[in-house]
Amino acid sequence: HKYATIVESNNPENVGKKASIQGWVRAVRKMKENVFLDVSDGTSSEHLQVVLKKDSKPESLGYGCSITAEGEISLAPNGRAELHAEKLSVIGECDLDGYPFLPRKQYEQDYIRQYLHLRPRTRAFSSILRLRDIASRAVGDYFKDHNFVNIHTPILTSNDCEGAGEVFLVQPNSKELNKEMMKDGTKDEAAAYFDTKAFLTVSGQLHLEVCARALSRVYNFCPAFRAENSKSRIHLSEFYMIEAEMAFVSSLSELIKETESFIKSVTKRVIEDGQSDLRTLGAPEPNWLDKDFGIITYNEALGILERHKDQLTVPIKHGENLAKEHELFLVEYHEGTPLFVIEWPSQVKPFYMKECSHDASKVEALDLLAPVTGEIIGGSVREDSYSKLESRIPEGLNLNWYLDLRKYGNVPTAGFGMGFERYLQIICGVPNIKDVIPFPRWPHNCSL
Ligand code: 4AD
Ligand code: MG
Repeated sequence: HKYATIVESNNPENVGKKASIQGWVRAVRKMKENVFLDVSDGTSSEHLQVVLKKDSKPESLGYGCSITAEGEISLAPNGRAELHAEKLSVIGECDLDGYPFLPRKQYEQDYIRQYLHLRPRTRAFSSILRLRDIASRAVGDYFKDHNFVNIHTPILTSNDCEGAGEVFLVQPNSKELNKEMMKDGTKDEAAAYFDTKAFLTVSGQLHLEVCARALSRVYNFCPAFRAENSKSRIHLSEFYMIEAEMAFVSSLSELIKETESFIKSVTKRVIEDGQSDLRTLGAPEPNWLDKDFGIITYNEALGILERHKDQLTVPIKHGENLAKEHELFLVEYHEGTPLFVIEWPSQVKPFYMKECSHDASKVEALDLLAPVTGEIIGGSVREDSYSKLESRIPEGLNLNWYLDLRKYGNVPTAGFGMGFERYLQIICGVPNIKDVIPFPRWPHNCSL
């Protein structure tokens, strides 16, 4: 390599060697004889101190510039490595007039988020981007080590897996093409291209269920899209979801074990591999890695909430979903350790969940609640009875193929889905989901 990374240059073992580096100036300190620069190349959260004789400083050198520098790595008085630049070139100047991030200033996330095209240059956000990468790898490795096969489930689909009607409709933008497609007699313009309406997927679960019935253990890690009218700090219109589906898993207790093992193992790996970025962010160390997660039923959850009604502002409604406030209260009540809420009323959950054997009004569902976000994972045992499933599939959904799965070599399956951005919020200690994804989409916001 022509250029060394900042990490390599920072390694005290390389003291005395020559190095060429490239990167961006993140700080400038002018002293009597020398100019000191902090240079970052984004490959890590580390900065390299570059020292330059004042009289050889290029005129245009300043905060925000991109540079290349060449020189010898020496030991600074503080014991760290630094580069004594013999040659330094400014590649691109940075016009501070109008640049939103000025040196030595701290900015609120709401402000930084207005500059999505410049945001990755902030130290914290570049750490977030690297942690996304580190966590993605940890997820892939976990599944590989546990005999899961990665399935590329489709983005375009004709089904609304969660049945909540929160789908984005997709059709050609070209009127001409649509007209051409309708020549065969299709009446519905929105269905002209595929002969059926097509949506951006809300979840790849149904496709995973197809594959689990041949490959046993499968997962995906894909974008999911939800047309929700929410600008909340935990909702995005486009987010990444990790979903796992396991054949021959027939009980909530087995599913809970798998889910808990997944999130704990991945987190241990992220903490190991992401140390310096987590430190840069000042992320809170999870205190739950060696504790058992709690398990309570939906009814028990309502009981706890009822007993602490005076501390809650949102009314508790039996048979309905929990409010965010309720979820976060339950986590706090459980001393900040995540907990599973299981056995939900069937009317608040999608059609595919298995009816509880002891109570036909409930389904074998779990929600994992965690600090910061509340719900982080949703999952269930799937209904494996052909007739029960048939009666639960909402009118008008063309899911004969899904029913078919229960006909030929049927097995029980169970699975879960975890929102990747919510997970990163918890791991990085970031209150707003828009600050853990490079280009967030939410209502009225899709311009970059
Ligand atoms: O609970 P959900 O809707 O479950 C499913 O989609 C199932 N098909 C999963 C499965 O069993 N295979 O979504 C799963 C998770 C939620 O717990 C949440 O973390 C995240 O996806 N999520 C969102 N994240 C960001 N923005 C949104 N609008 C989200 N909606 C769900
Ligand atoms: Mg859910």
